[in-house]
Amino acid sequence: MRLVTGVTGGTGLLLLLVALCCVEADEHDHLYEVDEEVVLWMNTVGPYSNRQETYTYFSLPFCRGVKKTISHYHETMGESLLGVELDFSGFDIKFRTNTAKTVYCSVTLSQEDYKTFVYATRNSYYYQMYLDDMPIWGMIGETDNTQTPAVYKLYTHKKLEIGYNEKQIVDVNLTSDGRVDIEPGKVLEFSYEVVWKPSSILFQDRFDKYLDPSFFQHRIHWFSIFNSFMMVVFLVGLVWMILVRTLRKDYARYHKDDNLDDLDDVVEEYGWKLVHGDVFRPPQLPLLFSSVIGAGYHVFTVAVITVALAIVGEFYTERGSLLSAAIFVYAASSPVNGYAGGSMYARFGGRHWIRQMLLGAFLLPSMVCGVAFLINFIAIYYHASRAIPFTIMASLSGVLYSTSIFCIIGKYFMQKLAVTAICLFVILPLTLIGTVLGRNMSGQGDYPCRVNAVPRPIPDKKWYVQPWLITLMGGVLPFGSIFIEMYFIFTSFWAYKIYYVYGFMFLVLIILSIVTVCVTIVCSYFLLNAEDYRWMFGLFQTVFYFGYMGLFSLALGLMTGTIGYVGTAKFVRKIYSTVKID
Ligand SMILES: *[C@@H]1O[C@H](CO)[C@@H](O)[C@H](O)[C@H]1NC(C)=O
Repeated sequence: MRLVTGVTGGTGLLLLLVALCCVEADEHDHLYEVDEEVVLWMNTVGPYSNRQETYTYFSLPFCRGVKKTISHYHETMGESLLGVELDFSGFDIKFRTNTAKTVYCSVTLSQEDYKTFVYATRNSYYYQMYLDDMPIWGMIGETDNTQTPAVYKLYTHKKLEIGYNEKQIVDVNLTSDGRVDIEPGKVLEFSYEVVWKPSSILFQDRFDKYLDPSFFQHRIHWFSIFNSFMMVVFLVGLVWMILVRTLRKDYARYHKDDNLDDLDDVVEEYGWKLVHGDVFRPPQLPLLFSSVIGAGYHVFTVAVITVALAIVGEFYTERGSLLSAAIFVYAASSPVNGYAGGSMYARFGGRHWIRQMLLGAFLLPSMVCGVAFLINFIAIYYHASRAIPFTIMASLSGVLYSTSIFCIIGKYFMQKLAVTAICLFVILPLTLIGTVLGRNMSGQGDYPCRVNAVPRPIPDKKWYVQPWLITLMGGVLPFGSIFIEMYFIFTSFWAYKIYYVYGFMFLVLIILSIVTVCVTIVCSYFLLNAEDYRWMFGLFQTVFYFGYMGLFSLALGLMTGTIGYVGTAKFVRKIYSTVKID
């Protein structure tokens, strides 16, 4: 959050909004005196099989320790979006003071509690805690399948081994113990134990043990980058050949044809030159098209800036800071959306510019909102049909809970208000500014060829130059250039790895852009040569998966679609700029 609050200085309103939810974000400076209080925060529980499905720790019938002084941690917006919901554990932990095994609370299992614990244990629920910002994970219990019926055991003892270096906490290990068979009516006693050990780990290296260099910096990863790089070289070569060799030949042929025309000789003309009166015809849905291109510019800007920021700042050491930064960058770069979409719409001669602006500004947010709402709805239904007292919607978190922020009124009214307010009072005005600038500064069409009044009929084509086939094939190479990186990104989204190699991501982003531009240029050349001037035209776990993947694909599609469009637009403009109009 530090970064975000730091940069906001200029934007008073945003600063206020961010400040609203983050004033108490930094609980301390990570320096402790002997005997100073160290807070253990309970975060979430959830099934091991779906990392994005999480609930608050105390939605399971666990009990709190006796210490009551701190009750709830005030999370930042990014944290809340990621489903971080810190509750004070009630453990009395003091810096460099060992605590022997102590019972901190006990629960008598009611029938309901029993069912809940059995469900959670059977589904391999794990919980997460934070100590001095360091994450700690533990399983809640185990299932003994060797007996019938299966026996469910709960871990009731937590042993924390904490490593310290001078005044700082640099390492935490958790050992779960005290297996107890659960049955209705039984009294469970929960206990904890703290052991402090001196450690030589440096404070700035304390997150290294969570990273997995042998996974993320594997030879395969380097190889895939190299592979994509070779593809770029190949494609750039191909495009160069088309641009220089083929086009030169085409020009020569057309030139010869022109001379023959003078002799009144009937020569059959073919190829891209014939459609010069149609290529700059506005698309069929100019409003939608320019909004999509605007949103694509926006996503691309956010992607480049956020990944660059992530390379500089080690976001993984602070909960939710990457997401906070991305939201901030998204809001702050809204003028890009307005400028690109608005100016293009003006060039198409569109009149409903306010409609276009609203569509462009809310295209992606409303999709996010829709998917989040759907996932939430199904999650509630799914859990309502089981005997699990995950009472209110608000207890359901994960990124989904977070994203639902855009639309659902609930427990975190304050934060939802903040995001809605950012949408209305930051994104919208900034988009408006961009739109007005765009319409005035580059709203004039300056196409090299005039558009004919009557559209030219598109001749029948061979099967391999059908637009749908070319569009499909065109997706193969950009996909090929990023799929290995996708593997790493998705592994950290759905499984338990922290993504930290943003340098790779940046390289892949650049490679993806180049590949996309090259591929769309080649594809458009084929289409134009075929005299087609339409060179651009346009359960529960399952829902979780396809919902998020759909969003991801949507954002990626907006981005690559725009990159491809912009590159090809330049290309088409270039080749037609020398066409002699009779
Ligand atoms: C935690 O566990 C690791 C690996 O077993 C060990 O190297 C480290 O010393 C432990 N740290 C503490 C504080 O016990």
